[in-house]
Amino acid sequence: MGFERWVWLGVFLLGALGILAARDAGEKDPLLEEGRALYLRACAACHGPGGEGGIGPALRQNPRLGSVAGLREVILGGREPYMPPVGAEFTPRELAAVISYLRAALGPGLSPVSEEEVSGPARP
Ligand code: HEC
Repeated sequence: MGFERWVWLGVFLLGALGILAARDAGEKDPLLEEGRALYLRACAACHGPGGEGGIGPALRQNPRLGSVAGLREVILGGREPYMPPVGAEFTPRELAAVISYLRAALGPGLSPVSEEEVSGPARP
């Protein structure tokens, strides 16, 4: 490969990096990022990677996203008959992250929640 081709390759790679950086800039809130990772790991298999539903109901624009207490209860305790208590071992930080992600990314721009808002006894 001649020198010029290497230059073009360099230009191309820099451009690609720029696109990646620009794409990430929109979602750099660490709590939401953590929530997204958790959602993909613990929920997406049943509710769909984009919350579109699957084995479980669609969560995108689901009216239940409006109730933080309701979400907390389902995540910690599961839902009969088919949803296991996937979040039983979540720390308050993880719970806040996944609830915030659900509300901000899948809901109609609902506010994120803090750890304080979601900590407390598992069965209120
Ligand atoms: C093994 C599959 C499975 C996993 C994993 C799972 N869910 Fe579910 N979820 C369900 C099913 C199925 C329902 C509906 C209740 C039923 O019929 O059992 C449900 C119901 C819900 C509901 C109530 C929705 C409604 O409209 O009533 C919410 C909210 C929810 N899940 C959130 C989550 C979150 C958040 C996670 C990850 C932390 C998660 N689920 C992981 C299967 C799953």
